[in-house]
Amino acid sequence: MRHLLTALVLTTSLTQAGAALAQTQFDGVWLFDHAAPNPGVTMLQVASEGTRITGAVTTKWYGPVTMQNARLEKGVLSFEVRNLNDRDHPTQTWTVRRTLKGVQLDGKMWESKIDAGGRRGTLREAEARAFRFQTLPAWAPVEQAPLAPTPPMGWSSWNKFAEKIDDKTIRAMADAMVATGLRDAGYRYVNIDDGWQGTRGPDGRIRPNASFPDMKALADYVHSKGLKLGIYSSQGPRTCAGFEGSYGHVQQDAQTFADWGIDYLKYDLCSGEYFYADADTVKRSYAEMGAALKATGRSIVYSLCEYGRFDVGAWGRQTGGHLWRTTGDITDDYATMARIGFDKNGNAAYAGPNGFNDPDMLEVGNGGMSLDEYTTHMTLWAISAAPLLMGHDLRQTPPAMLALLENREVIAVDQDAKGVQGKPVRKDGTLEIWAKPLADGAVALALFNRGDAAAKIDARAADAGFTTITHARDLWAGKPVAADALAFDVPAHGAVMLRLKGK
Ligand code: GLA
Repeated sequence: MRHLLTALVLTTSLTQAGAALAQTQFDGVWLFDHAAPNPGVTMLQVASEGTRITGAVTTKWYGPVTMQNARLEKGVLSFEVRNLNDRDHPTQTWTVRRTLKGVQLDGKMWESKIDAGGRRGTLREAEARAFRFQTLPAWAPVEQAPLAPTPPMGWSSWNKFAEKIDDKTIRAMADAMVATGLRDAGYRYVNIDDGWQGTRGPDGRIRPNASFPDMKALADYVHSKGLKLGIYSSQGPRTCAGFEGSYGHVQQDAQTFADWGIDYLKYDLCSGEYFYADADTVKRSYAEMGAALKATGRSIVYSLCEYGRFDVGAWGRQTGGHLWRTTGDITDDYATMARIGFDKNGNAAYAGPNGFNDPDMLEVGNGGMSLDEYTTHMTLWAISAAPLLMGHDLRQTPPAMLALLENREVIAVDQDAKGVQGKPVRKDGTLEIWAKPLADGAVALALFNRGDAAAKIDARAADAGFTTITHARDLWAGKPVAADALAFDVPAHGAVMLRLKGK
């Protein structure tokens, strides 16, 4: 709405001033016909009044990007662009210069370079190119469907394949999920992440790109294997990888996904963050899709991906969501995995049946960490009741990795019906003990050594809230251990996982 007003004010002032009264050589409308797809600049509008210069650059990805602190110095118009992510990206300054043919616009949007030439346009052309804003429905909570009593388990294409995905690979992953025994260990969802989208048809219906000839047939295939199919979209005009998003097509896309037989949607804020930049609009944009999914009548697990902003765990369920990312993206290295898993895995109070904090997908099997580090990764996600979404090529799962991913006792901790997210109960320098109460009265304990040298860690009854431990099992070793001998040598970056009974 704010953009809409800006655009209107701008158009009105341009209309009133008219080209003849323009006060700087930049005033007026400039049209861009060949700008790079990201962010897809279509138009520049500038108006000046005395020394005050206002304006906007219209883009396909972000709508009109309003000029901030616009100023004219030595014949160059420069301005700042609203920064939604100033922790990771510096504020960008864009510049406009006059050329023989018109104007030259330079700048950067995130990592993408803008280097585009524009020609003089008319107000009529400006109106024709004006970005079409969508109205966000007023806030209305969406009743959550009970589709994730325990954290979702499965596989997603992003960590390994990024946007290089196709029908054949997805089918191969479904096959491998069965052949490796991973399906029978509990992994069910085969999730197509970003990169499946093509263009919209004349009726606005989204069509997959040429790598996915028939989504319904793919869903049928995945279902025939006893698995479920997931897909990905964004509330912005574009997804993070630059594919078509659901902006302006929310209900239509939800219906298309349902028609295809989709069982899971990851909805990623991405270019939508330029439109929905505060708690209220972000929340409403998630509720809009949540309601649309619900209206299809199909059971679709709803995954919120907005990187943990605005305390998402406090309201994720009210949008119909079942899991919500708590962080930016994981990468396949110990430092990133540990930073996310130990310190950014969300407020445990929000987790419970049908709603889980999501510290992002697994990297186990991708090769960037040692066996001990991947053991920590798996232990940490399980003790945290995190979704277990594998992110490697399932056709190439080394036996040691398969053993980590298929350990039934560790999976049982993650999938425990009580749905409690474990928390640290004791810390001693780089050593941490985490506990997760389980439905049958037992307690899972994780002993983590975050240090660079092996260390001894002892588990105490009090760590599990007991006075005495009566039974103990070492879940990675797969054997019972004496309840009075719970001191373990834990390798650097490694972990031990226990299931304890006591009184
Ligand atoms: C964002 C998400 C990732 C992945 C990519 C796809 O970065 O956080 O998990 O979905 O987009 O482009």
